[in-house]
Amino acid sequence: MANYPELKGKVAVITGSSKGLGRAIGERYAKEGMSVVLNYRSSEKEMEEVIRGIEAAGGKAVAVKGDVAEEGLAEKMIEKAISEFGKMDIFVNNAGVQVEAKTHEMEFDNWKQIIDVNLNGTFLGVRAALKYFVEHEIEGNIINMSSVHEVIPRPGYTHYAASKGGVKMFTKSVALEYAPNHIRVNAIAPGAIDTPINEETMSDPEEKKGLEALIPSHVIGKPEQIAAVAAWLASDESSYVTGTTIFADGGLSLYPSFGPENK
Ligand code: NAI
Repeated sequence: MANYPELKGKVAVITGSSKGLGRAIGERYAKEGMSVVLNYRSSEKEMEEVIRGIEAAGGKAVAVKGDVAEEGLAEKMIEKAISEFGKMDIFVNNAGVQVEAKTHEMEFDNWKQIIDVNLNGTFLGVRAALKYFVEHEIEGNIINMSSVHEVIPRPGYTHYAASKGGVKMFTKSVALEYAPNHIRVNAIAPGAIDTPINEETMSDPEEKKGLEALIPSHVIGKPEQIAAVAAWLASDESSYVTGTTIFADGGLSLYPSFGPENK
């Protein structure tokens, strides 16, 4: 489905896009007529399949291997966008990881890994994109993947919640800093979406039921529903939107315990 004709011919960079939400965003952007530079860390086969799928549907996609937590990957992706497609218009910082651990037992390395990928990786992507946009006077667009856990506390995943809380305030601060340059910076906060990150929960019927019960709409989201938000944020339909987080969560962030079913 192509909803935004102005996106045709635009070029997007999307981190962590061999599966899950990054993949769905890449596929949706390609359907909108955009050229996409995708990224994978280790899953080369999956990445090739995604690219083949996009090309078979008439889209343009290339991939860059690398870890978002390492300095240089974001620049490499932008260089690839320029060498393959001539420019870069939209940078999506999507890659993210989570590992369960009680805080009092959490290894410092575990804490650092989550902050490194989710928060430092986002910084590195944002910095590279800003540098390119500012130097070329481009009114570019940056989208950061946050989570409902930028506002909902998450026991067992306190490092994850801290990283997403950081993404929230980083997004707002950068948006304010670059509003005079007409560079828009926003975040998306998905609720529970059916992607490989939730594989364990989705494959256990009891856990899945428990998760559905927690969501006010009782529906686990689909990656395409998040990709739709990413398409809108990239489009001119959101041209006056900057520094905000769009929640796409079936009502998960609305204090469900106050809902009508709990009265
Ligand atoms: P996923 O695990 O299905 O996919 C994550 C992607 O990021 C994979 O392609 C993985 O290879 C890549 N990745 C991980 N670490 C990387 C690194 N260091 N460098 C480069 N790529 C790396 O996860 P999903 O669900 O697609 O998550 C995407 C983003 O959405 C993450 O930031 C996550 O925190 C966020 N999110 C997901 C939710 C969900 O329910 N699926 C809910 C809220 C937020």
